[in-house]
Amino acid sequence: MKNTTLVLTTVTALLGAALAGAGFVVYSGVYNVGATAQHLQPVHSLLETTMRNSVRWRARHIETPALDDAPRRQRGAALYRDHCVQCHGAPGVAQSDIGKSMQPVPGPLVDALQRWRPREIYWITRHGIKMSGMPAWQFRLDDEALWDVVAFVATLPTLSPQAYAQMTQAAGAAPQRSPAAAPLRAGDVERGKLALGQYACQACHTIPGITSALPNVGPPLQGLASRSLIAGKLVNTPDNLVLWVRDPKAVKPQTAMPDMGVSELDARDMAAYLATLR
Ligand code: HEC
Ligand code: HEC
Repeated sequence: MKNTTLVLTTVTALLGAALAGAGFVVYSGVYNVGATAQHLQPVHSLLETTMRNSVRWRARHIETPALDDAPRRQRGAALYRDHCVQCHGAPGVAQSDIGKSMQPVPGPLVDALQRWRPREIYWITRHGIKMSGMPAWQFRLDDEALWDVVAFVATLPTLSPQAYAQMTQAAGAAPQRSPAAAPLRAGDVERGKLALGQYACQACHTIPGITSALPNVGPPLQGLASRSLIAGKLVNTPDNLVLWVRDPKAVKPQTAMPDMGVSELDARDMAAYLATLR
């Protein structure tokens, strides 16, 4: 009996100390969030291991198409040059200043195949990595384009700086294969929710269901479905909502809401989600 009491008291005391410690770190401001302050090695390893296992687990059922195909790699070279080199660099090419000063710093992908299977590189490119600055590409590159980039990343270890320069010059313009080219269909509520986040709408609007800093730059979108007008101008119909989201200046030339480059398909999906906000 005595022993049980002692154990319980010790556990409670330890839990209390842990909570007090965590509270101190959160509320005192001692933790340096600056990107110039490196993570401690154990913290870095912990984050890296969590990320690695998350990617492996999530990518485990993805089927890899044939990647050993010259036209595919050529298309991938153009996509890599346009979308990846700024942050990751390439043989003979340094990252841009933004890429260099990020924390964690995006590494050259020359050795990516030593750490990742192609399907994992595909997953990372499609979904991005939260809290690292690695963007998700699924709303900008369709599946074939994603695999083209993966095929190219897989050839990076074999490319000399000269070969990289030649290949990216010869590749010409990157193929325009955004997922937006898919045939139109009825709006998809779940995909619309994802699209709102991927077009950064929550940077200005507080939107129910989407995590954000609760900004107030644009009006909160809570209850949008019950409003009779959009932006005080347009009758609130699904088509008008698509029109507004895609080209707000066409509706209201002085508006502070920018054109976010939303495709018709993505705007319809967003409208489907926004229609659920009563
Ligand atoms: C805005 C900067 C940025 C751009 C653009 C970018 N990335 Fe990243 N990428 C990152 C960051 C930051 C990381 C995370 C590094 C870490 O956690 O160690 C990362 C990680 C990765 C990783 C995992 C790397 C590893 O070795 O563990 C892969 C693979 C990757 N990116 C592929 C790509 C591809 C392909 C593109 C182009 C379609 C791309 N990235 C564009 C910033 C970027
Ligand atoms: C840079 C800030 C900013 C971003 C990003 C932004 N908006 Fe807006 N939005 C505004 C502002 C400001 C208004 C008010 C416009 C007005 O009435 O002239 C507005 C108005 C709206 C309205 C009308 C709201 C109402 O109450 O009538 C909708 C709907 C909307 N935005 C949707 C979106 C969607 C969807 C996205 C992402 C594709 C987005 N916004 C991105 C600033 C932004």
